[in-house]
Amino acid sequence: MRRPIIAGNWKMYKGPAETAAFVAELWPQVRENKEVEIVVCPPFVSLEAAVRAGRDTAIAVGAQDVYWEKQGAFTGEVSAGMLAEVGCRYGLVGHSERRQLFGETDAGVNRKARALLEVNITPIICVGETLEQREQGATARVCQGQLEAALQGLSPEQVGGLVVAYEPVWAIGTGRNATSADAQAVIGDLRRLVVSLCGPEAGKNTRFQYGGSVKPGNIADFMAQPDIDGVLVGGASLVVADFAAIINYRVAAG
Ligand code: 13P
Repeated sequence: MRRPIIAGNWKMYKGPAETAAFVAELWPQVRENKEVEIVVCPPFVSLEAAVRAGRDTAIAVGAQDVYWEKQGAFTGEVSAGMLAEVGCRYGLVGHSERRQLFGETDAGVNRKARALLEVNITPIICVGETLEQREQGATARVCQGQLEAALQGLSPEQVGGLVVAYEPVWAIGTGRNATSADAQAVIGDLRRLVVSLCGPEAGKNTRFQYGGSVKPGNIADFMAQPDIDGVLVGGASLVVADFAAIINYRVAAG
């Protein structure tokens, strides 16, 4: 059984004080929910505050990026070991904003995922097509290419432990989510790709998220899809009431 995983990607929002207050306010609203694994991904400088505020809770903390080298003259970068030291359990890699705005490549995504795995941080590998690629009918090719590149050199066991987030670029921050059927179709193909590359066990265990304009009102549809195991939430994860409602989607749906 794959445990549902709901993660908030805060992007460049919330410093340490706001982060600590958010976690403290969120926990009482989600503590009864034992089913869903909850992750918040604040900016680097707020990671420690999130870990501290979440210490006696089941809220895990993830980073939004990482650099693959262990240490060295890499101004501005943060290593996987440093993230592990402050208590991160997850790390986003390959978010479309990193790919589009900061030159992230498929090869870099692979190196980052490997660096995280070396220190037992679970990578959340993000893949997704642009609107132009979707209109050209290239969605499957693009997403599968990104995933295959990200998985290079990983063992089937490592792949089975991963989280993969399918985030169509045109659905991010636009209010225009993919339909749950479209998301299921892409993610079903990605799961079949994992099976063909790494075997049925890995394919059964890898958890897939959908991301892109997830809200309290559409989460249940996504979670009802057989291959969707969770969501990666941007904007709606910045508001405690909305993020709590997303996490508690089963209760909310009655
Ligand atoms: P939104 O939920 O704001 O569309 O952002 C999605 C996202 O990029 C999460 O990583």
